[in-house]
Amino acid sequence: MSHNHYPDLQVCVLAAGKGKRMRSNLPKVLHKVLGRAMIDYVLHTVESLRPKGIAVVTGHASEMVREHVGQPANLDWVIQDQQLGTGHAVKQCETVIRAVRDVLIVCGDTPLLSAETLAHLVDEHRNCKADVTVLTALQASPFGYGRIVRDDDQRVSAIVEEKDATDAQRQITEVSSGIYCVRNEVLFDLLRAIGNRNAQNEYYLPDIVPLALAAGQRVDAVLMEQSDEMTGVNDRVDLARVEDMMQKRIIRDWQLRGVTIEKPETVRIEAGVSIGIDTVIQAGCYLIGSTHIGDECRVGPNAVLVDAWLDDRVNVFAFSHIQGASVGSNTSVGPYGRLRPGAQLDEHVHIGNFVEIKKSVIGRGSKVNHLSYIGDATMGSDCNIGAGTITCNYDGANKFRTEIGDNVFVGSDTQLVAPVSVGDGATIGAGGTITRDVPAGGLTLSERTEQRYIAGWKRPEKDIR
Ligand code: UD1
Ligand code: MG
Repeated sequence: MSHNHYPDLQVCVLAAGKGKRMRSNLPKVLHKVLGRAMIDYVLHTVESLRPKGIAVVTGHASEMVREHVGQPANLDWVIQDQQLGTGHAVKQCETVIRAVRDVLIVCGDTPLLSAETLAHLVDEHRNCKADVTVLTALQASPFGYGRIVRDDDQRVSAIVEEKDATDAQRQITEVSSGIYCVRNEVLFDLLRAIGNRNAQNEYYLPDIVPLALAAGQRVDAVLMEQSDEMTGVNDRVDLARVEDMMQKRIIRDWQLRGVTIEKPETVRIEAGVSIGIDTVIQAGCYLIGSTHIGDECRVGPNAVLVDAWLDDRVNVFAFSHIQGASVGSNTSVGPYGRLRPGAQLDEHVHIGNFVEIKKSVIGRGSKVNHLSYIGDATMGSDCNIGAGTITCNYDGANKFRTEIGDNVFVGSDTQLVAPVSVGDGATIGAGGTITRDVPAGGLTLSERTEQRYIAGWKRPEKDIR
């Protein structure tokens, strides 16, 4: 995974297009692949080459793109008001390009591209002393890509877009990745010479190839080994395909780092997730956003974790849903547990089936094992909360807190009507409606109706006429 650094390189990222084929209100490069915007992948990759500067060309919804990316120190924003083509887009960068030997041009819609591949392109370009080098790949189904036209000596002579290609040219399976390395000294003269007489009336960046050849400059092509990497996203079919490839990469990466993933083809693990060693992720799990899972955990099958934080040795059983919550070590949740934002479970906690916890702290060793709702509460350590216990935290307008001390035992089917507090060591009898603070220790019972016994009573019998 190591490659050189390139202080003598400027990067241009093309991200001005609307992405018409996405049919979206969102600019194309902000569409997400496994929870991360496409532009973020591309910027992260080019950043790792440590170039002198990065120019990003935006146009359509440029404010949205800028707001998303922020303002890294070595990044210049370039506006392309009208999207007149990829050549026109690069030309807009002229004033911000720093004094460098080469300009690396990449598209914002190819998130799978690796830094190794880009480094290889730049290295080959320099070794061959080329003026223009294009990164190409063999694609069994080349539809939509620019085709690489080679002359009798197998040298690149032109790049022809799908819409301009002849039937014979459409058969060519070597395609352009849209990525170029060009000597800074010649780039802008070439760009000034391109026209827009083509099927799309656009200024095509690929037209610098024949212009460079006509000027006696050297044009080379570097063929990629991993042709998947150049897959560009133009519509949502491509987006799904790219996401699938990215998912395989991410899963493989976690597997190699010591995570067991059962039925990996059924699991979603987003780009921002981290997982510790000897953790087992079972089938059908969705690990979303910034979710962190510690060592030796077991999650699933079919659990959903969104921005969740799990310490080591946590068990999340089947069909549990955890969002914006943190779980201490040796704790278990589910099956069918639900932790909502602000739930904070300490170590050795047990949250059982059909239990919902929201904005509540649950102390070390406490158990809420069955069919309960705990919201806006603070619970101390070693409590046992009986089945069906509910914190009544909402009066229809405002929310109130429930405070529970340490070593409290709450009988089944108790309603704790907040605001209310329960002292350390208290025991509350089953079926209570608790509306006033419960003192520490002792037994608290709320009013119960007298139990009656009717001797000799018989159950009705089924009429068998
Ligand atoms: C482009 C290439 C094609 C290559 C393919 C690889 C051209 C003319 N075609 O086709 O040879 O095989 O990429 O994926 O270069 N953009 C701008 N301003 C514009 C037009 C486009 O910034 O005026 C940006 C887009 O936002 C996008 C990138 O340039 O990130 C490529 O544009 P796109 O429309 O996706 O071109 P393709 O048809 O994919
Ligand atoms: Mg494209």
